[in-house]
Amino acid sequence: MAFTLALQFGLPRKTATFSTLPSILSFALALIAFTAPFSAAQKVELSVDASKTGAKIDRNIFGQFAEHLGHGIYDGIWVGPDSKIPNTRGIRNDVVAALKALRVPNVRWPGGCFADEYHWRNGIGAQRAVTLNPNWGGVTEPNTFGTHEFMDFLDQIGAEAYVSANVGSGTPREAAEWLEYMTTAQPTTLAKERAANGHPAPYKVAFLGIGNESWDCGGNMTPDYYVSQMKIYSHFVRNFNPAQQDKQHMLKIAVGPGGDGPRWTDWTETVMKAYQQHTWSWDINGLSMHSYTVVKWPPSYKSVGFGEAEYSQILKSTLEMDGLINKHSAIMDKYDPDKKVALFVDEWGGWYAPLPGSNPGFLVQQNSLRDAVLAALNLNIFARHADRVRGANIAQMINVLQAMIIIDKEKMVLTPTYYVFKMYVPFQGATFVPVTLDGGSYTHGDVVLPRVDGIAAKDANGKLWLEITNIDPNQAVEIEVSLAGITAKSAAGETLTAPTVDGVNTFDAPNTVVPKPVSAKAQSGKLILKLEPKSVTVVSVE
Ligand code: AHR
Repeated sequence: MAFTLALQFGLPRKTATFSTLPSILSFALALIAFTAPFSAAQKVELSVDASKTGAKIDRNIFGQFAEHLGHGIYDGIWVGPDSKIPNTRGIRNDVVAALKALRVPNVRWPGGCFADEYHWRNGIGAQRAVTLNPNWGGVTEPNTFGTHEFMDFLDQIGAEAYVSANVGSGTPREAAEWLEYMTTAQPTTLAKERAANGHPAPYKVAFLGIGNESWDCGGNMTPDYYVSQMKIYSHFVRNFNPAQQDKQHMLKIAVGPGGDGPRWTDWTETVMKAYQQHTWSWDINGLSMHSYTVVKWPPSYKSVGFGEAEYSQILKSTLEMDGLINKHSAIMDKYDPDKKVALFVDEWGGWYAPLPGSNPGFLVQQNSLRDAVLAALNLNIFARHADRVRGANIAQMINVLQAMIIIDKEKMVLTPTYYVFKMYVPFQGATFVPVTLDGGSYTHGDVVLPRVDGIAAKDANGKLWLEITNIDPNQAVEIEVSLAGITAKSAAGETLTAPTVDGVNTFDAPNTVVPKPVSAKAQSGKLILKLEPKSVTVVSVE
């Protein structure tokens, strides 16, 4: 296979010998430099009133996105039953084990732009049509990973299906038949075909995307044209699964904005205005929003081998997610004050220049500590908007863009972003608790960022969890946590940092950016947490 992941971009590991006095002296100086940040730590006060709770943080904000793109699906998930790579019915066991630990709530599939060129019949049955993937490298699409394989994968990792229907080049009938094929329990011809293909029981489809980026790769539609399509698909593309007829009913997600200019506010206005006037025959439950952290288009920032300037610029850009959500939520509030329609940020993450030597159509990039911080900042923004943001899907799960996992043939490495998602598991379905926090600012050149960010939430057992991100790459912080509403004795959890802002995990050095235990004792009723520079920390309070 021509594809080789360029993972050798990690920093060279240095080894030292201390046989001479100068070496000992420089070692001592290095030690002082390493410990200095804590002695010079910035003191930051954070207060939490655990008796004041907000909205529930929907676990679907921790959703994933897996598109037929590069080696995201093929090799990343699917190796086929005859592969030497250990697999269960063709699906990699190592990937499944890693993803299970994230408690992935849902996976959005088959795209992305690919969804609007996907014809589901190519991906079922014994004979699969070989088609093309014009969006992503113009490669052939074997269709060996289709509906049944996707559902099997979800079953193995314990996630729900978020299926994107083809509105751009498909028909309402094609999408309606796909849903009937997947979900009906009645003995229709399509249900019998599903059974003959190995699955007599109806599948559950939790979310239906009505197209993808219909303003661009999904068909270049005007907002009005899209709305007329959306109504048709919403009405005819039905979920028949008997278990999904009331509470667990399938949520229909309409295409929403892709930015913050007038083109996008106009789009949100048009869809939400139509929603306000909807009749019994159609409905939507969510509005999708796509927002990548790119800074420059085409993506030109490096994913590894960068310094503090690129670290701070990317994080400044990622924090714009908050303003974007505010802007579109305000429009949604006008037409849907009860917040019945969720905002689904179903594509987000850092999008950088393709790694040198990789196929540019495969969107291959490394994943660094900067991405871990970026992920934490975005998850915190979503949690703060928990009343409206009830779904989000990071792009993408494996080998593509800001991935959880990087694969090269039999090798697998977990990225810093993976560890952030793992550390945030306790926030899934927890209840938001507001925090007051002012850590001052961190400045680099003309970029000014809040030094510290954080959220708090109570899980189903009433346990309080805190997440604190120290954005400042040079300065440790000492967080003094005041807690009202509970008596705290201690806190314990994990912290994630790296020697450099562009620290990455590679196949040869997979443990450069991995979480380490962290704990704190209460002193005079306050918890004192010392956080390293450029770190993401999650603790539970005892
Ligand atoms: O994630 C890559 C692409 O970005 C998706 O296919 C598309 O929806 C978006 O433009």
